[in-house]
Amino acid sequence: MSNTIQCPKGTKDLLPEDTFKLQYVEKKVSRLLENYGFKEIRVPVFEYTELFSRGVGETTDVVQKEMYTFEDKGGRSITLRPEGTAGVIRAYLENGMASRPSPVKLWYNMAMYRYENVQKGRLREFHQIGLELIGSDSYLADVETILIGKRIFDTLGIQNIKVNINSIGCPKCRGEYQKVLKEFIGKNLDRYCDDCKSRFEKNPMRILDCKQETCKKLNTNAPQMLDYLCEECKEHFENVKTALKRQDINFAIDSGIVRGLDYYTKTVFEFIDENSGLTVLGGGRYDGLVEELGGTYTPAVGFATGVERLMEMVEVAIGDQIQERKPDLYIVSCEQAENEKATQLAEELRNKDIFVERDLVGRSFNAQMKYADRISAKNLLVIGANELQSGIGKIKNMSTREEKECKLEAEEIIRYLK
Ligand code: HAM
Repeated sequence: MSNTIQCPKGTKDLLPEDTFKLQYVEKKVSRLLENYGFKEIRVPVFEYTELFSRGVGETTDVVQKEMYTFEDKGGRSITLRPEGTAGVIRAYLENGMASRPSPVKLWYNMAMYRYENVQKGRLREFHQIGLELIGSDSYLADVETILIGKRIFDTLGIQNIKVNINSIGCPKCRGEYQKVLKEFIGKNLDRYCDDCKSRFEKNPMRILDCKQETCKKLNTNAPQMLDYLCEECKEHFENVKTALKRQDINFAIDSGIVRGLDYYTKTVFEFIDENSGLTVLGGGRYDGLVEELGGTYTPAVGFATGVERLMEMVEVAIGDQIQERKPDLYIVSCEQAENEKATQLAEELRNKDIFVERDLVGRSFNAQMKYADRISAKNLLVIGANELQSGIGKIKNMSTREEKECKLEAEEIIRYLK
């Protein structure tokens, strides 16, 4: 064992005893997103680095510290995607999706890569199920997006989710706010960490997202963007709040949400798992990103939920209710002629969507019986010399222990199984 290689820090294997639960969640969520008119998109795992530095923002932690960036053999700077939005918008523009009926509603389920300090709920390879609603500046789009987020947790039976929302305004109102914020931070700038100091000129709002305890303390009484919203942003936020209340969405205003990515404007939101304190879903409006990436002005809103964090909650909430598919039938056979019959029958049955297991390693009769039990096969069919000769076997229901004679023909077996 000492010589075996382990998976890289911050990555995780997903084993069969968990994949079926993930598949259950993926099925539920994709169906839900479909009901809201979202269509799945997949984009490359790696993109040109510039996409993220321009899209996510030069001064963000993600871009400055967390990207897996390398030069490929052709000398191009490549980055493993740290998030999905930039790539999806790149694909939207590159594939002329702007000419499709608006809004364009896309969802994805993709692996993301961030070189982070590994800790509970924080991996270096993780997955996000996310969506992007592109081409609407209406508050209705924000509301629908938040509603979908809520429905994901409802559908999976997950409770104790706190919905926090905020507005971080638009470039118009931010100018004024940044001035006051700089005045506030400027008074103590020498006490902030080096990252904050370097962000002071370029992007002072980033300083509010600093995770260092000293900086967090210094930020305690910082002026809040909410108090500086322009009329348009204020009205937009009011509309969002009113509509959410009408839909019975229990939310709180958290003026501290700034989000870790630079593209956000107006509404931002985070869903917190109250048990672990982790953010399980985050998103918001990003009206400037399409333009930033070379398109014409196209407002958009979206979110992503961390699949690993979601799965931990699913495990607690409904883990024991998600059942793995069990074999409908185990065919026991030992000798060559019987094995051939077993192969033929198993093939016919599988073609008809029946889950059949049989021996592939040369186990004895008794060992096969034990194995069938161990894999929880629902029914058992023995094909021995007599059965082969008569063309009739006995199917045993493993839970009732009831046995019934049955022709060794697929149709007849299916009738019995049903
Ligand atoms: P984000 O807040 O960076 O947003 O990530 C969204 C979610 O991904 C987080 O709430 C968390 O559940 C999960 N997540 C993030 N980092 C990790 C990690 N290291 N390990 C495990 N899970 C993690 C975005 O990525 C935006 N692109 C969301 C968005 C879509 N905004 C608009 N559209």
